[in-house]
Amino acid sequence: MIHKKLKPFPKDFLWGASTSAYQVEGANLTDGKGPSCQDVKKVPEGTSELDVCADQYHHYKEDIALMAEMGFKTYRFSISWSRLLPKGTGEVNPLGIEYYNNLINECLKYNIEPLVTMYHFDIPAALDEIGGWGNRKVIDCFVEFAKLMFENYGDRVKYWLTINEQNMLTLVGPLIGTFNAPKDCTNVTKELYQQNHHMLVAQAKAMALCHEMLPNAKIGPAPNISLVYPASCKPEDMLAAQNFNAVRNWLYLDMAVYGVYNNLAWAYMEEHDAVPVFAPGDEEILKSGHPDFIGFNYYNTSTVEFPGADEKDGTQNDQQNGGVEAGFFKGFANPNLPRTEFGWEIDPQGFRATIREMYSRYRLPMIITENGLGAYDKLEDGKIHDPYRIEYLRKHIEQMQLAITDGAEMMGYCPWSAIDLISTHEGMVKRYGFIYVDREEFDVKNCDRYRKDSFFWYKKVIESNGEDL
Ligand code: BG6
Repeated sequence: MIHKKLKPFPKDFLWGASTSAYQVEGANLTDGKGPSCQDVKKVPEGTSELDVCADQYHHYKEDIALMAEMGFKTYRFSISWSRLLPKGTGEVNPLGIEYYNNLINECLKYNIEPLVTMYHFDIPAALDEIGGWGNRKVIDCFVEFAKLMFENYGDRVKYWLTINEQNMLTLVGPLIGTFNAPKDCTNVTKELYQQNHHMLVAQAKAMALCHEMLPNAKIGPAPNISLVYPASCKPEDMLAAQNFNAVRNWLYLDMAVYGVYNNLAWAYMEEHDAVPVFAPGDEEILKSGHPDFIGFNYYNTSTVEFPGADEKDGTQNDQQNGGVEAGFFKGFANPNLPRTEFGWEIDPQGFRATIREMYSRYRLPMIITENGLGAYDKLEDGKIHDPYRIEYLRKHIEQMQLAITDGAEMMGYCPWSAIDLISTHEGMVKRYGFIYVDREEFDVKNCDRYRKDSFFWYKKVIESNGEDL
């Protein structure tokens, strides 16, 4: 493809990578940590528990030193709510406060900017017992948790992310293990969108509180955004793509940025008798948030067609192209895209298209908070050859630079994941990291760390500020 001269990555571009607490830390019931919803859920057969993970809780110094060796400018990690507040509210766990103090200080020792996700799929189990996000009280608990983090870490953490992939929590929450419906629930969609509404209110309150308490900090949402293509140029497929774009993507960003529900998403909720109940004041709260930037995770695009007249509702798991919503959209496997070993489509150009679309809609700086490829990596003679990962990341970075050349404002790039960790539902065998963790699904060994080929490659990319790919 012919293209004008590429614009370089900004000088202070935040190269780094990401993890989340419940997938990387281990020590899940150690040093006063309370259980999260992830610790009490039934793990899928054949996958490991979350008690050790990559054992970052005990290896954080080694891990941060390896990240510094790669030249990281930032490290995105999440803070476990139930490590700080074992019951989600009330009593504070001092050892939890200390752990993240140590982690943050370790990052700063190497000039690595901590990028903190406040909530990544791990609501405290004690809050789940009172209905989880379905209970409005949880909004106040989240604000209490946010305040505790701002008070303790706000002197050193400049970049905050509110809720990881709130859209996936709503679209595929049952799969991630985060959805908790009351026993007598007769309309699951309504319950999901009410929970979603509570999270949106909690997010807006946290953003406003951050601006009040930490005027120099920046905060933004972290949904999973990827453009939805129509399966063909039939006009009805275009309508289906607009429908799915609205419920999958724009609902979350229109709300975070403008404080209003996207009209197509609202129409969808009306049709499903799933319009959320607003408490007095919600409308004003939702408008008071104002993110400073948008963080987003990107793995692949989705493609949809308009469903046939007799099509019934099915699962919304669009990552596997299985979703169908009667009269609204139907998932379609894009024949133009290759797939990973785990069946996820690979679409670097879709990454550029997604960035372009987002910038023209919201005009806010963006940081990529996840992007990456899960594979069955093999450790042989102390080495891990992962050319497939290098190729995936290289192509996405190239497309990000093209999007910058198109005029989008990008602040940074944090692929998933800094280090191998437990997948959301496929255990330890599905690896994403630059750093290999030597453990099996059930034999955790010593969790020794090894540098993969992609580790050395990414070091070069960072050193050259994205010129040497
Ligand atoms: C994102 C999540 O959806 O995808 C991560 O934010 C997750 O928590 C990542 O691990 C990869 O998904 P999976 O299912 O392969 O672990």
